[in-house]
Amino acid sequence: MTQTRAIRGPYLTFHADPFTVDPMEALHHEPDGLILIQDGLITAAGAWDSLRDQIPDGTSVDHYPDMLISAGMIDTHVHYPQLPVIASYGEQLLEWLENYVFPAEARYADITYARAVARQFLSELLRVGTTTAAVYCTVHPQSVDAFFEESERLNTCLIAGKVLMDRNAPENLRDTPQSGYDQSAELIARWHNRGRQLYAVTPRFAPTSTPEQLDLAGALLATKPGLFMQTHLLENRSEIAWVRELFPDRASYLDVYDKAGLLRPRAILAHAVHAEEADFQRCHDTGCSIAHCPGSNQFLGSGSFPLFKALNPERRVHVGIGSDIGAGPALSLLQVLSDAYKVAQGLQTRLHPAQGLWLATAGGAQSLGLEDRIGSIRPGLYADLCIFDPAATPLGRIRTQTAETLADRLFALTMLGDDRSIVATYVAGQLLHQRKTA
Ligand code: GUN
Ligand code: ZN
Repeated sequence: MTQTRAIRGPYLTFHADPFTVDPMEALHHEPDGLILIQDGLITAAGAWDSLRDQIPDGTSVDHYPDMLISAGMIDTHVHYPQLPVIASYGEQLLEWLENYVFPAEARYADITYARAVARQFLSELLRVGTTTAAVYCTVHPQSVDAFFEESERLNTCLIAGKVLMDRNAPENLRDTPQSGYDQSAELIARWHNRGRQLYAVTPRFAPTSTPEQLDLAGALLATKPGLFMQTHLLENRSEIAWVRELFPDRASYLDVYDKAGLLRPRAILAHAVHAEEADFQRCHDTGCSIAHCPGSNQFLGSGSFPLFKALNPERRVHVGIGSDIGAGPALSLLQVLSDAYKVAQGLQTRLHPAQGLWLATAGGAQSLGLEDRIGSIRPGLYADLCIFDPAATPLGRIRTQTAETLADRLFALTMLGDDRSIVATYVAGQLLHQRKTA
């Protein structure tokens, strides 16, 4: 039976790229909009007055008159197993991995534990208005099964993969080039393109894989169309020096991945804080994308990613934003956008709120090659939506009252917003999160 739904209220979506035209010209604002949904897909979106006659008989209309409706947000870099060690004190990347992350990830040998955390993680993700994410599991194949089982139940569009790690990690977290390949191939066969689930080949980062393992990761990418690749790049100075020692015959950190055949569209490189001109040029040439994780980079003291350098129109690189839980201290992409603004300011650049929202929606979708499915409010796309309440908190209320323009209202939302700013989250037209009223 056909399922229909209608959502009414002010909505925001992008019909152009706010980094190439005036940001507010790129943003379409429908002050009293109507979104019609059938079997999970948007069938029409426009002004209430022009579309109200098309609401099928018997369809209930969810009405959000004082809110802002947006495409669901897209987190291009996050680790679900690290949720329990979010906000762990004191260390920078390599010591933080040793002291907190590896012990936490060892627990995912137990699928019951993995299922419990996957469930909490996805519930939290929807509570902050994120409907798609590129997610690291652990080295254990069962951590991937646990994650996709829950995502399939929710019908969320999630990208995830088994971490590949065959050296420089505790023994109970290591695979081998062959076992990592075989387990990944099985998971790809089981999960890639099953419903809305998508697989990412996931070598953790250069220091924890041998060249043999990286080569096999490259070979895995050829086994099925549309696979993703995710890894970390140029995050921390000690990490970079270590990569130089481990791969003395490679021209650069990025070249380690390049030689293994990992750079291509749908390859997501997290951080790239210390990327140089040649790195950006190569990312541009190969079509891979960078996940900008400003909250994490500040939390671990990694440095400031030069977003506007990456976006240089002469050789623009795809960029999405990532919470990078557990190095990032917040899962809400509104909080991550606030960090992104402050980091851009520190580099004497200015991130407009429409540019921020684009990175978290349409731009994120484009960086993943998923713009024909998610990231905008447009017929034919999935009805993955989140409903923002700019006046959710006492401060938000005070600030919103003084906001005279949409741009200012949006800026206040992205500076002050968090999980409380999400009234509701829809996935393929189903209401999966509804904020509890105070
Ligand atoms: N580099 C290698 N592994 C990780 C990780 O789990 N988190 C972050 N932030 N960087 C990494
Ligand atoms: Zn990470």
